[in-house]
Amino acid sequence: MSKLTLPKIRTFKREGRKIVVLTVYDYPSARLLDNAGVDLLLVGDSLGNVVQGKTTTLSVTLDEIIYHAEMVVRAVERSFVVVDLPFPFCQLGAAEAVRAAARIFKETSADAVKFEGGKNRASTITALVDAGIPVLGHCGIRPQEIRQTGGYFVQREKDREQLFQDIEAVEKAGAFAIVLECIETTLAQEATNLLQIPTIGIGAGPYCDGQVLVFHDLLGYKPEQDRTPKHVKQYADLRTMIFSAVRNYAEDVRTSAFPGKENSF
Ligand code: KIV
Repeated sequence: MSKLTLPKIRTFKREGRKIVVLTVYDYPSARLLDNAGVDLLLVGDSLGNVVQGKTTTLSVTLDEIIYHAEMVVRAVERSFVVVDLPFPFCQLGAAEAVRAAARIFKETSADAVKFEGGKNRASTITALVDAGIPVLGHCGIRPQEIRQTGGYFVQREKDREQLFQDIEAVEKAGAFAIVLECIETTLAQEATNLLQIPTIGIGAGPYCDGQVLVFHDLLGYKPEQDRTPKHVKQYADLRTMIFSAVRNYAEDVRTSAFPGKENSF
């Protein structure tokens, strides 16, 4: 399996080949996803939600994302690994963003960074690209701006003007692809037709050039009280499987059924 490179990814849209993206945060999971043929692995700051149990992504630090990204990159042979620039490194301007992204590159050997922001931060995207750091843009819902927006609201017709200004600015700034998060299907379809770079949808309908889901959402690996968002298709029920395996183990320990002869020396 040869490593996916940026020039190869750039051919996908032209060839009408959909891009498969999943988030991932650790070594064994990254090995599985790489072997399963996932194109892009995203070490997302959703780490804050699904691994750390926080309500937002805001507290994830650069050190934390580097810690997880290093494990992921080490596990991978083929997939292209993208690492989120955590809050506030997209917001602090070009010098801070380049410094943070350079640390990510040096300490993890990742392939690219993901950057939340539109027209107002396009110059920072250009600075990253000029520094030799490929950038995956991120428009639509931007979870790092949750304090400003007050919620995760789907982008609709009324948001059209701002959305198109943002995505066009991100493309012009040099991003190699763009995540569109929670955008009405018709708007995302229009964006996909308009842009030369691939769109990667999450809650943005079926017409994007690729799709991304959060690993834990895909697998149903989460506490029972966590709701499943509308945009998620859950392909497994790990919560039930883990719960039942652990209950069986506990029962075996309590009844001395484990360890058996086959597990003993
Ligand atoms: O942090 C993340 O996992 C993301 C994806 C949901 C696109 O930004």
